[in-house]
Amino acid sequence: MGKAINNNGKYHKKLTIGLFGFGVVGEGLYKALQQTSSLNATIKKVCIKHPGKKRNAPEELFTTDKDELLNDEEINVIVEVINESEPAFEIVSTALLNGKHAVSASKKMIAEHLPKLLELQKQTGKSFLCEAAACASIPVIRNLEEYYDNDLLHSLKAIVNGSTNFILTKMFEESLSFKDALLLAQQLGFAESDPTLDVDGWDAVNKWAILLTHAYGIVEHPDNIVFSGIQNIQSGDALVAKEKHYDIKLVAQAKKLLNGKVAAFVLPQFVKADDHLSFVKNEYNGVVLESSFADKQFFYGKGAGSFPTASAVLSDISALRYNYRYEY
Ligand code: HSE
Repeated sequence: MGKAINNNGKYHKKLTIGLFGFGVVGEGLYKALQQTSSLNATIKKVCIKHPGKKRNAPEELFTTDKDELLNDEEINVIVEVINESEPAFEIVSTALLNGKHAVSASKKMIAEHLPKLLELQKQTGKSFLCEAAACASIPVIRNLEEYYDNDLLHSLKAIVNGSTNFILTKMFEESLSFKDALLLAQQLGFAESDPTLDVDGWDAVNKWAILLTHAYGIVEHPDNIVFSGIQNIQSGDALVAKEKHYDIKLVAQAKKLLNGKVAAFVLPQFVKADDHLSFVKNEYNGVVLESSFADKQFFYGKGAGSFPTASAVLSDISALRYNYRYEY
């Protein structure tokens, strides 16, 4: 099981941030930081791919040269929200090797490179945090790390992808077509730039691999988790489900087995009307945990969108003030 450490009372009075990406999440973080006075953290530079685009921030903030951020000694935190696997890995690993803390929201990158990221964290003594990478606004990663450290976590059951949950809600409760519901999810900034990542379950399985690492300390590559998305679900399926008082949801599940191993999968499932997950609608996510002493608990909140995701990044930045990090 993972655990968090507080680095011998060392405390950063000021955090100077280099931000990679100014899309839905990056801009959300920029605006959120402007409204947060208790945190002595400022964005010094933002690295973007496409210059010349009209953005709601001063032009001198932006650059296309990643080294301006990665080699700037004043910048002590790199935040990366570009959500492109290999370039994101390059940014995060260079940041750590250059003596900076790193915060990332790139689910695919983290799920695929977790062992290497953990090694880099150990090697450099810097922190790598990723609260925004799973369930966005729900503070589930840090809770799994801290709260359950001495408890026995029997099982987790969750909805971890906002877009598919949004699509299913719109299809089954508002009779929208799959295509229109997906379009709406894209317009609202929930869906990945390649929406098949959401629809076919890739995004959910990446997040599940990340959450399982924090829940059980087992670094599981997403390729080893059985999964399917909602690509084969049709409007008629809801009618059948509704008649029997069920919802259809894309559910991620994990259970600790008696031999210590963890069985995990992500699949569309019928969910009973009185199940906690049935309460999770639209872009919301939910996590139901069962553990020895705390018994059953339910975490709930927005799992996608600009400010909900930025809020998780903000909480990582805040935790970096006292050098918080996960230790495996
Ligand atoms: N596409 C993702 C989702 C965004 O719908 O959940 C948040 O990770």
